[in-house]
Amino acid sequence: MMRKNLTKEKENKEMSLIVRIEKSGNRYNAWDSDGNKHTSSISISARKRAHAKGMALEQRVNKSGKNYWWVVPMSEFESQMAPVFDTSSVDVPSDHAEILNFIHSSYKLKPAGLVMKELKWKYLIRSAVRGKNMLMTGPAGCGKTMAAKSLVNSLDRPDFYFNMGSTQDPRATLIGNVHFDKGKGTYFSESLFVKAIQTPNAVILLDELSRAHPDAWNILMTVLDQGQRYLRLDEASGQETIPVAEGVTFVATANIGNEYTSTRVMDKALMDRFTIVEMDVLTDEEEFGLLSYMFPHVEPDLLKAVSEIAHTTRMESKSDSGKVSTGVSTRTSVEMAGLIYDGFGIDEASEVSIYPQFADDGGMDSERTFVKQLVQKYVNDGSDENLFNEEDESESMS
Ligand SMILES: Nc1ncnc2c1ncn2[C@@H]1O[C@H](COP(=O)(O)OP(=O)(O)O)[C@@H](O)[C@H]1O
Ligand SMILES: [Mg+2]
Repeated sequence: MMRKNLTKEKENKEMSLIVRIEKSGNRYNAWDSDGNKHTSSISISARKRAHAKGMALEQRVNKSGKNYWWVVPMSEFESQMAPVFDTSSVDVPSDHAEILNFIHSSYKLKPAGLVMKELKWKYLIRSAVRGKNMLMTGPAGCGKTMAAKSLVNSLDRPDFYFNMGSTQDPRATLIGNVHFDKGKGTYFSESLFVKAIQTPNAVILLDELSRAHPDAWNILMTVLDQGQRYLRLDEASGQETIPVAEGVTFVATANIGNEYTSTRVMDKALMDRFTIVEMDVLTDEEEFGLLSYMFPHVEPDLLKAVSEIAHTTRMESKSDSGKVSTGVSTRTSVEMAGLIYDGFGIDEASEVSIYPQFADDGGMDSERTFVKQLVQKYVNDGSDENLFNEEDESESMS
C-alpha cells in the first residue's frame, strides 16, 4: 500500500506539463523534461518574461477549460527532470532504493549535446544497472555510438571499446593469437577482449556489431547467453573456456533500418541475446534544437533549412512512393551546419555532403535530382542577399 503512494505521486507529477525556457540565438524555446518542444503553444511575451526571471512555466486549465501557462519556480521543473523518490516511506530494500534513485535521477547524467528522450535514456541506464545486454538499433548517424559512449561515461565502471565493424580477424580480436618464439616455443597471447570479460562490472561496447564478420557472431553466442556466459578459447578442440566475470554488461550497436539491405542481417539467435533499444530518429524540431545548441552563432534560418532538408528526405524515404531510399542522417546535418559555420553556402554544403549519398542514375528521375530540387527551395530563402535588399527597401522608404 505504501507502493501505491509512490505511484500516485509519480502520476501527479506526470500529469502537469512544465517547461523551461532556453534562449538560443534570438529565440526563446520552451522544452519539457522529456526534451519535447512547446515553443509554438506559448506566447513570446510569456516565454521572455519567464526566461528573464529564471522561472519555469506550467500548463494549467482555466474554468472554461482553456489552457494557459503560469510561471512557477524552476525547482518545479527540476523536480520533473530528476524525480527523487521519497524512499523513507516506501517499503523497498535499501539497495533497491538506491537503484531506483539512481535510475530516476539519471537524466542529468545525459550530456546536453546528446538528444535523447528521458524515457529512452533511463531505459538504457536501467538495463545497464540490471546487467542486461543492450543492442541499440537505428539507421546510420542517428546517435547510437554517441549514446552508447555517453552511457558508458555515466556509469562509474571499467569500460572497454571494440569496433566490430572494422575487425578483419575476429578470432584474433576476440580470443587472441598463437605465436612462436625460439626460446619459448609456441605460446598464446590473449586478446584485450579476454581481459575485458574477466573484469568484474566491466561495460563492454561492441560497436557496429551488425557489420561484424559472422565468425565474430559465433564466438559471441556463448559469451552473451545469460545461461552460458563463457568464451571458448579453442573452438576446434572445445577445451578451455573463460567465464564472463560478475556484473559484466555488453552494449552493442547495429545499423538496422529499412535502407540497410547491404548490411548482413544479424542472426536472430544473436539478436535474442539482447534487450533491444531502438534509437529515435530526430524530428525536425529536435534537429533544429541540436544544431542551434551546437552552432549558436549560425543564422537560425540556415539551421532551420538544414533540419528541414534532412527531415523531408527522411519522411520521403519512409513513404511507399518515396522519391529517395534513404534519409539525410543527423550526422550529415551536423556536418552541413559545420560547413555553414565555416562560411559555405547551403548549396555548397549540400553539394559536398549530401549529394554524394544519393544515386544520380536515371537523370531527371534520379534520387539526386529530387534532393537537388529540395535544396534549391532553400538556397535563396533568407540569404544575406535578400535580407540586404529588404533592408535597402525599407531604408529608401523612410
Ligand atoms: N541523437 C543525437 N544527438 C546528438 N547528436 C547526434 C545525434 N545523432 C547523431 N548525432 C550527431 O551525429 C554524429 C554521429 O552519430 P553516431 O552516434 O556516430 O551515429 P551512429 O552510431 O548511429 O551511426 C554524432 O557525433 C553527433 O554529432
Ligand atoms: Mg556508430
